[in-house]
Amino acid sequence: MQIQTIDIRSITDPGEGTLSFFEAERDLPFAIKRIYYIHGVPKGILRGGHAHKNLRQMLWCPRGDILMRLDDGTEKREVPLNDPTKGLVLGSDIWREMLWREADSVLCVAADAWYSEEDYIRDYDEFLRYIGKKK
Ligand code: TYD
Repeated sequence: MQIQTIDIRSITDPGEGTLSFFEAERDLPFAIKRIYYIHGVPKGILRGGHAHKNLRQMLWCPRGDILMRLDDGTEKREVPLNDPTKGLVLGSDIWREMLWREADSVLCVAADAWYSEEDYIRDYDEFLRYIGKKK
């Protein structure tokens, strides 16, 4: 599966918390064109339910606990996001669902393209047909 976990560079000042940072094209394998974040989600809510044809993203959770359920049509993986110093880089062609395991968890995303609904596949059977044709 085309996924990669990144250790986000972090500087801890004892007793004063931690500053975490990453730089596009240095720490990430792409230039960032868009940042978005999902917040105010109650516990137990499942979001996502789509794949992207071309988009590359890095996801990180600065607060809370979100379970990423990933499926590339061949393999299924579950990756918890519950550490503000870890990032998950997702390639395209991965069906993803996100389960809020803790209320008010925040999901942040850096993406390599502007928002485009044409890049989404929102039907799972269509996703399987789409990746089947590429193989
Ligand atoms: P969506 O990606 O479907 O969110 P989720 O998978 O978490 O449910 O996006 C929700 C809505 O927001 C949808 O109508 C598209 C819109 N949207 C934008 O307008 N711009 C963006 O950058 C993103 C990510 C979504």
